[in-house]
Amino acid sequence: MSVYKRTHMCGELRKENIGESVVLNGWIQKRRNLGGLIFCDVRDKTGITQVVFNDQIPQELFERADKLRSEYVVGIKGKVMERESKNADLPTGDIEVFADDLIIYSEADTPPIYIKDDDNVDDNLRLKYRYLDLRKKKMQDNLTFRHNLAKLTRDYFAENGFTEVETPVLIKSTPEGARDYLVPSRVNQGKFYALPQSPQMFKQLLMVGGTDRYVQIVKCFRDEDLRADRQPEFTQIDLEMSFVDVDDVIEIQEGYLKRVFKEMKGIDIETPFPRIPYDEAMNRYGSDKPDTRVGFELNDITDMVAGCGFKVFTDAIAAGGSVRGICITGAAESYTRKKIDKLTEQVKSYGAKGMVWMKVAENEVTSSVNKFFSPEELKAIADRMEAKAGDLILIISDRNKVVYDSLGFLRRHIADELGLLDDEQYNLLWVTDFPLFEHDEETDTYHAMHHPFTSPREEDADLLKTDPTKAKAKAYDIVLNGVELGGGSIRIHDRHMQEDMFRALDMSQEDIDEKFGFLVEAFKYGTPPHGGLAYGLDRLVMLLTGEKSIREVIAFPKNQNAQCMVSEAPGVVEEEQLDELGIKIKEQE
Ligand code: AMO
Repeated sequence: MSVYKRTHMCGELRKENIGESVVLNGWIQKRRNLGGLIFCDVRDKTGITQVVFNDQIPQELFERADKLRSEYVVGIKGKVMERESKNADLPTGDIEVFADDLIIYSEADTPPIYIKDDDNVDDNLRLKYRYLDLRKKKMQDNLTFRHNLAKLTRDYFAENGFTEVETPVLIKSTPEGARDYLVPSRVNQGKFYALPQSPQMFKQLLMVGGTDRYVQIVKCFRDEDLRADRQPEFTQIDLEMSFVDVDDVIEIQEGYLKRVFKEMKGIDIETPFPRIPYDEAMNRYGSDKPDTRVGFELNDITDMVAGCGFKVFTDAIAAGGSVRGICITGAAESYTRKKIDKLTEQVKSYGAKGMVWMKVAENEVTSSVNKFFSPEELKAIADRMEAKAGDLILIISDRNKVVYDSLGFLRRHIADELGLLDDEQYNLLWVTDFPLFEHDEETDTYHAMHHPFTSPREEDADLLKTDPTKAKAKAYDIVLNGVELGGGSIRIHDRHMQEDMFRALDMSQEDIDEKFGFLVEAFKYGTPPHGGLAYGLDRLVMLLTGEKSIREVIAFPKNQNAQCMVSEAPGVVEEEQLDELGIKIKEQE
């Protein structure tokens, strides 16, 4: 069977083409037989063209056209004509093609999902038949957008002296925060490779190796719980630069993002972006990735309620926690008791045991804790929050982490419920000066918040020896509308500082050798000052295309259970394969 050589894509024909003989290839979107006329919509990734078979064509051709069904793959030859009833919703809606030949390349069973952008089909079904889902114009547009962004990225960084270098995928398991995916070695039985959570150590080795500026669009793997913006395998735009400090890294990234917004969205974004130190971000927004499209900032009222009679507050304060609240403008009336109860339930998942509310009216403040506070005290709290009549105040008291997480969630969630988050507004900002160490409450130990090669700020270098938990890092995250787009840091290149860092982390020499030995060894032989950053490419594409999940911008994503629904990975393997690897599967209980 031959293939017709097409002259146009299905979304291309316009009024100007009227009278031309054309050839189209594509899928049948739908077919209607109106007696003497058969109408077909023929679709490819660019759009749809209406094709007409009328009674002036040979009977045999008409009968063949009558056999067409949805998703048959066809080639059509015909002439472009002006449509009598135009379809303003369709870019090709002014014309139709009168067919004079048809080839059916393949027939199709009735597809299990409709090929329609707004089809509300179950997600798992979409993922199982992803190749059908991908026929939707929106999905193809997303893939094209992603391709264009990747191309722009390579161009921009190449123009700025970066070289794309591939780093290994079978690497040694190194601690980087999440769980590793492991790959057993046949040749070295009993040993395992890990799939990289990021190319972090290799990009630093590239700096030691003199690459100067490195970029890679690279797959990373993390065995962690999935969310809308998390996949077990995802893509980073990974970068590292030699002879730089924080401002140099930030400057080149702002240039990149400026170009991304201009070329991909036609939007001029202002640079430099605001920089908010971590502590300020937490105190004002309860989040290290604040969405600044709305206000509703946090207010600390710990000092005002320290001596009050409400035990929930005073207990939290006595335990080292705090009492903070947010004021939601004009929401007192619309947030009924039932709605507030629902919010109280929701903050429980952030560890909050309860939530106090206050409603501000012209002459009084009502609240869920009326009996513990005098009207004057309530008024004073409302005043601290700059609340006006009609406003709703929500207060959480607990450990600081719970308070921040709960209020951070509430301000964004309520803004979303009130329709205040404008999808067309892009608030980019840097969060800087992260703590160098993070406290793990379960094990009561400290670990590096970013990774152990992150440099402290110059002024904090001595704290490594005296009070490491107070040290702040030369680390920065780039945040867009409440999503962490990327993060990075300036690394430690000084051997002695690195030793102090390991000591502060309570790591034994054995530990260091086992986990990072090769990097420490490399650093002995002349290391340039260096730093970098990595973006989540999937997240960047998701935000720029206005999608709510990164699954919409990945061709074959995993489902909630980290399975590939198309290929049914992960799967069982032959006993023989396991034998070769020296692996025995434990009996399931
Ligand atoms: P980090 O761990 O912050 O930094 O990752 C960088 C960015 O990658 C994206 N990301 C993810 N996207 C989708 N699914 C996931 N599971 C996932 N995990 C992370 C986020 C994140 O901001 N090596 C360091 C970077 C550096 O220091 O240069 C790193 O990997 O957008």
